[in-house]
Amino acid sequence: MSDLIPAPRALTPGGGEVRLTPDSRLHAEAPVEGVARLLGGALRQATGLPLREGDGTAATGDDIRLRLRLRPGLGPEEYRLVSDGDGVLVEGGGPAGVLWGAQTLRQLLGPDAYRRAPVDRDRVWAVPHVTVEDAPRFAWRGLMLDVARHFLPKEGVLRYLDLMAAHKLNVFHFHLTDDQGWRVEIRRHPRLTEVGSWRARTKTGHRASPLWEDKPHGGYYTQDDIREIVAYAAERHITVVPEIDVPGHSQAAIAAYPELGNTDVVDTTALSVWDTWGVNPNVLAPTDTTLRFYEGVLEEVLELFPSRFVHIGGDECPKEQWRRSATAQARIRDLGLADEDALQSWFVGHFDAWLTARGRRLIGWDEILEGGLAKGAAVSSWRGYAGGIAAARAGHDVVMCPEQQVYLDHRQDPGPEEPVPIGWVRTLEDVYRFEPVPPELTPEEARHVLGTQANLWTEVMEDQGRVDYQAFPRLAAFAEVAWSDLPAPAERDFAAFDRRMAAHYRRLDALGVAYRPPSGPLPWQRRPGVLGRPADGPPPNR
Ligand code: ACM
Repeated sequence: MSDLIPAPRALTPGGGEVRLTPDSRLHAEAPVEGVARLLGGALRQATGLPLREGDGTAATGDDIRLRLRLRPGLGPEEYRLVSDGDGVLVEGGGPAGVLWGAQTLRQLLGPDAYRRAPVDRDRVWAVPHVTVEDAPRFAWRGLMLDVARHFLPKEGVLRYLDLMAAHKLNVFHFHLTDDQGWRVEIRRHPRLTEVGSWRARTKTGHRASPLWEDKPHGGYYTQDDIREIVAYAAERHITVVPEIDVPGHSQAAIAAYPELGNTDVVDTTALSVWDTWGVNPNVLAPTDTTLRFYEGVLEEVLELFPSRFVHIGGDECPKEQWRRSATAQARIRDLGLADEDALQSWFVGHFDAWLTARGRRLIGWDEILEGGLAKGAAVSSWRGYAGGIAAARAGHDVVMCPEQQVYLDHRQDPGPEEPVPIGWVRTLEDVYRFEPVPPELTPEEARHVLGTQANLWTEVMEDQGRVDYQAFPRLAAFAEVAWSDLPAPAERDFAAFDRRMAAHYRRLDALGVAYRPPSGPLPWQRRPGVLGRPADGPPPNR
């Protein structure tokens, strides 16, 4: 029972247990009926019990075993779970709190509560008597998934939303566009997906690799797919933050619409969707044509995604083409700008104003700080903590996602057998000891740290199995960092967390997650390191 992940604030065990029987009912107040639907659906599948629903008021009697309701006075994501002689009561300050309490309830029922059909119809399902009081440390508990480098079909995205909810994560940062693929249908610019969603071949392994897979790779989400993903996430109290990466990481868009590129320095009609990895020199031209085009893209993005924050990328934009482009240089002169960095700032500032005028907020990777940042913009601090510290000190909100700590594409073991072992070695323990709030910040500045996010870049993750392998078990440690009130990194009890992981691996097994086993890769996951980077190499340059 005390093997919950993420660890709750307080847990008091009682003596007995609440047994579920074919007569047991699940009752929920109207505002949390959605949570009851999710919990009831999952538990009916796993247990085979009918768990009939009620509104929590009409029926009485001892057949009511599970109750869900709001409790004024608790924070919106805060919950209280009491299992005693009266059954199990989950109360939350808001529906999200009730949902997180329901996730705890599922963990209390045991690993088989995560299966989609009963494996033993005769087993006894019981919730131990316990009181759990719990609330998250951070409001932004994020996971970024790059579906541009390798496309993850919609079913896989929905599955990741379920996995996030099971770990009480609540922001899905959806990296939808990059040099290697454009993954969201935009009705007014159909070539973005007709041309931009497929590449002819793919580099196998990492940058030093001499190998290619000579087979087209691609796919995209229709607007209905996106609506479904957003609605599915909303049911799980997860916000989907879309990312349209500009002005770098845009070759797929330029391949579809060559006029978006710097046509006076490169023949953009000869460009195709990029088939290798790294930082790409072919960036957007800072022209009115480009601005109007992306305003059109964002108009459709805003219709699809209700998220307050919209991510515009802003990372890794080489300025070489702008230096050589007469058009870009004329723009710098006309605007009275100092240099190409200031031109990028102007470009980002344009979309900041555009989004702000529509009631949204811009968020971008920490490069958007270079050359000055518009007031309301927020920053994803990925190149270590420095960008986040600078941003918080300047009064900008920050999501901490330093690549040194929480880039889960990075290898998790120094041994030779990690599949495509890129980046720094970051073990389960390293992630457990990650602290999102740097000690340099004053309490006032630290209030700008909205939370934290783990990032999954998929250059070397060609399918769901590889994504699972990189994400897990480390995402479980990350979830605890994001949710639980852990002490300072050096004082964290990793041994105790690791003991709780024994139960969590059984949950992940039931969920069908192809995690990295604690004792090393499974044979099918081995992909000897010749295609990757040396273990102690310089920081990776995806
Ligand atoms: C990034 O990793 N380029 C944000």
